[in-house]
Amino acid sequence: MCPTAGRAGVKLACVVGARPNFMKAAPLIREMRAYPDIVPILIHTGQHYDLSMAGRFFQDLELPTPDVSLNVGSGSHAQQTADVMKRLEPAFAEQRPDMVVVVGDVNSTMAAALTAVKMHIPVAHVESGLRSFDRTMPEEINRIVTDAIADYLFATEDSGRDNLLREGVDAGRIYLVGNVMIDSLEQYRPLWQASPVHERLSVAPGTYGVVTLHRPSNVDDGPVLERLITALRDVSAAIPLIFPVHPRTRLRLESMNGATISACGTNADRTRSALRLIEPLGYFDFLALVARARIVLTDSGGLQEETTALGVPCLTLREQTERPITVTCGTNHVVGTTPEKIVAQARRVLDGGGRAASRPYLWDGKASQRIVRVLHGVLAASR
Ligand code: UD1
Repeated sequence: MCPTAGRAGVKLACVVGARPNFMKAAPLIREMRAYPDIVPILIHTGQHYDLSMAGRFFQDLELPTPDVSLNVGSGSHAQQTADVMKRLEPAFAEQRPDMVVVVGDVNSTMAAALTAVKMHIPVAHVESGLRSFDRTMPEEINRIVTDAIADYLFATEDSGRDNLLREGVDAGRIYLVGNVMIDSLEQYRPLWQASPVHERLSVAPGTYGVVTLHRPSNVDDGPVLERLITALRDVSAAIPLIFPVHPRTRLRLESMNGATISACGTNADRTRSALRLIEPLGYFDFLALVARARIVLTDSGGLQEETTALGVPCLTLREQTERPITVTCGTNHVVGTTPEKIVAQARRVLDGGGRAASRPYLWDGKASQRIVRVLHGVLAASR
């Protein structure tokens, strides 16, 4: 049965599309359902569609079956953004939400915000104001555009609020509320702690590192990816690395030369390879693996935040981060993509040179409560 059937009240449409959206939307939907006069509507654009990229996250995070599924799938940026907009417009027209809530910085986020504002539907952006100041990143464009047109902007850290203020956003529309991703991490702590992933992968907690790579700037360019793989192989001489491979990266690796691939443990003897490629993991298994890692090497945005919350040292293989609190307060080291620097910093961390971390302000598992309280208040005031 439709999870919102029989409810009356203000309609909040939450739009999700890609893997990092799901753990941000789940606590918001749960919190919305706690208000008898809010009708949450979940819309899934289908930007991510594989079981490993979407379906398992819906299961782990207990997300309801979407009220609307747009099935846009993969495509170029223009294609994907346009497809979301074209399919979302009639869905909004039919559902008539009082507000649209978007999370993060993927193409679906920007497409949904644009569609909504053109239909005069107010937009709330959760995880607002983050800036890498690198406009070659598709996510940076999505963040700038979404923030420029959103009505209510919810920031995870001080830098987000400061960036928005500098860009001229009225202070009354900015709310520093903390991080909904950490809400999910805390909500499901007992479940991910019980994950059998270590037995399944035959690795002992505390004896390995975790790698993720999927940024176009790192994986779409063959020589850059080869350099990163070389660095990872060097690090794996000191500590075995487990590398759940994103489909974008899998495609690129498959087109690389055989020597590089076999060095990555895609051969039959996977468990003994020092740099071990595995399929993408579900939410619980991935958090369990990261929580007991000695080091994480990544170009993901969300993982910089999760490692900070978990106190696990993180090396960010990019030139900058849009999440500076993870460096100033957390466990993150932005090391770039030069192999020598990556290997040297990994050695320092493994030798005990990681940074003592503390939890960023308001990353307490209650961000979704704060956000929905604000949204409920503004909607009540406008009725
Ligand atoms: C997208 C987001 C990125 C986010 C990442 C998390 C944008 C611009 N990028 O990047 O910010 O960090 O998701 O994963 O929105 N594919 C599959 N199965 C799927 C989904 C994708 O095989 O379920 C493959 C397809 O070949 C596709 C490629 O992965 O072409 C890339 O997917 P896409 O959604 O375009 O971008 P991501 O790299 O996943």
